[in-house]
Amino acid sequence: MKNLGIWHGGDYSPEQWLQEPEILEKDLEYMKKAGINTVTMGMFAWSFLEPEEGKYEFSWLKERLDQLYENGIYTIMGTPSGARPKWLADKYPEVLRVDDTGRRQRFGGRHNHCYTSPVYREKVKQINERLGKEFGSHPGVLLWHLSNEYGGECHCPLCQDAFRKWLEQRYGSIERLNRSWCTAFWSHGYQSFDQVEKPSPIGESMVHGLNLDWKRFVTDQTMDFVRWEAASLREAGAGQPVTTNFMYDYQGLNYRKLSQAVDVVSWDTYPLWHKEKEILTARDNGMQHDFMRSLKKKPFLLMESCPSSTNWQGVSKLKKPGLLRLASWQAVAHGSDSVLYFQIRQSPGSSEKFHGAVIDHYGKTDTRVFEEVSSIGKELALLGELSGTGVRPKAALIYDMENRWAMEDAQGPRNKGLYYHETCVKVYSAIKKLGFNVDVITMDDGLEDYQLLAAPMLYLYRSGIEEKIEEFVRNGGQLVTTYWSGIVDESDRCFPGGVPHGLQEVVGLRSTEIDGLYDWESNYMVPASGEEGDRYECRNLCDLVRLEGAEALMIYKNDFYKGYPALTKNHYGSGTAFYVCADAGQDFYDDLFWKVTCEAGIQPLVEGIIPEEVEVTSRESKQYEYLFLQNFSQKPAVLEQRLLDCLLKGTVLLGEISGKGVIESFGTVIIRRDLHWN
Ligand code: GLA
Ligand code: ZN
Repeated sequence: MKNLGIWHGGDYSPEQWLQEPEILEKDLEYMKKAGINTVTMGMFAWSFLEPEEGKYEFSWLKERLDQLYENGIYTIMGTPSGARPKWLADKYPEVLRVDDTGRRQRFGGRHNHCYTSPVYREKVKQINERLGKEFGSHPGVLLWHLSNEYGGECHCPLCQDAFRKWLEQRYGSIERLNRSWCTAFWSHGYQSFDQVEKPSPIGESMVHGLNLDWKRFVTDQTMDFVRWEAASLREAGAGQPVTTNFMYDYQGLNYRKLSQAVDVVSWDTYPLWHKEKEILTARDNGMQHDFMRSLKKKPFLLMESCPSSTNWQGVSKLKKPGLLRLASWQAVAHGSDSVLYFQIRQSPGSSEKFHGAVIDHYGKTDTRVFEEVSSIGKELALLGELSGTGVRPKAALIYDMENRWAMEDAQGPRNKGLYYHETCVKVYSAIKKLGFNVDVITMDDGLEDYQLLAAPMLYLYRSGIEEKIEEFVRNGGQLVTTYWSGIVDESDRCFPGGVPHGLQEVVGLRSTEIDGLYDWESNYMVPASGEEGDRYECRNLCDLVRLEGAEALMIYKNDFYKGYPALTKNHYGSGTAFYVCADAGQDFYDDLFWKVTCEAGIQPLVEGIIPEEVEVTSRESKQYEYLFLQNFSQKPAVLEQRLLDCLLKGTVLLGEISGKGVIESFGTVIIRRDLHWN
């Protein structure tokens, strides 16, 4: 991809102001003033690009693109499939999505087309081909932005039919499907694929294997559509890479899979800042950044972020001064090669008229937000060398969507809430606090690159994960896994012969029963040695295990399972496996990962204790390591001498650490060190 340094800019919809050329002129002037070098155009412009069927009008877009390019501003070109024109919906109702009770939607909104409809595909192909031909070799086009935030599902007869074909391909015979889904239960067996209906709240909704396969199908069908879009550009000669923007923790699609259909991963981040300690929001957001980077193990793009407040969240909070800068650098720290906003200019009407923008309704540049954006632009321009640099974590967390789908659908030990996401964030935060980079991977990934692997609540085992984990530990890896792991196979059928399936020898125990706790209940983990010592509260789920070689480090304090193991450790091959039996708090995980990494001698990025509200992250080029220290507190952070000494071995590229080791409130410091400094 073109190296412009870090891309800075965002979504720009000039079609809303075509009748007001003076506004478009101002946009250009202001973009230059704000250090913007990239815009995304065309995503929601279908009715401007093809006002009548087959009648294309690209001149307005070409003019904008040319003018921007002449002024040093590049374009990420959108395809318009995210919102269709009225004529298309009126003429071809099959393009409109059908909901899960069978009701066809009317024209309106966006992101609501059928991914299967041959007509929709054909219309998208036609316009994409035209766009590809027109802009496919334009030097101002950096990248194609396919549609917008693909998501949702369609339940029309075309999709139903495609689902049956998908099942036939997956299972080959109806007997295999029946066995995999365990349809003998309630005698729901099928005689042929034609009989299978997709899940519905007014039909079948409790066959877990069916629900899981439907979600897989939705991903595959969406992916097929993404590929269709990309192919139509390619066939027209467009050579630029393609992306599509992913969403925060979106559960409707398996992004690991979908990412294979694009060249570059990009995503839209809208964290709710200022609701709790900023560092907590930063950890959650950082985990998503790491997830996006880990999808391709390559730099990603921050495609959208809000320069001030959104207008669609429960409360639209302004970002306090300095927060936008901090969050923007956090994206870069975790591997983004861009800082892009939604949006450059605020719409005067309709549903996003109060959504934050670089240029607001006032229309001039003497605003707090514009000034902060401009200063970010200046800083990013100075640090272009970061673009394209990688991240090589020693630690990985498995965070797997198929696992989550299955676990949260299963009627099991705690239908009120299993807290998979929260548990992963706790584990992730504990590792980050120690100063490690973390890859957030799925069961499809290899484990060879890591020394530490966290695999919490891995309910569903697939892709040979048990073999990969066994090998990882045997070869010297440190594994932390937990309760409610290795329970079902990839069709959500329970494994016979004890759990965690295939790993009982590795963890040195067998899980026998699991207790669901009421919201008001808790238990405690206390040292198994009987000494006075740390005790950790645990809630929600308590696993009862039988040791088969492992040693109990902690035991339960209360209930009939008082004295049963609550945390265990087992040596296996040259590695160690820790098994956490209950849903413990952050304090427990913080101490556990500290102990695990110290005992195994896994070195974090820095020496010394990192202040609680500071995040340490790094990126690497062939020659250098770039260390980012970010203070998410509204108070200055003070670094201890050992940490300071360690940092002073490098060159400060951005920000300041005062002689006394102070990082200002919301401050970011970037230090460049020779790669093999230690
Ligand atoms: C999403 C969309 C944008 C816009 C923003 C508003 O991320 O992609 O078009 O609606 O949300 O926050
Ligand atoms: Zn459909």
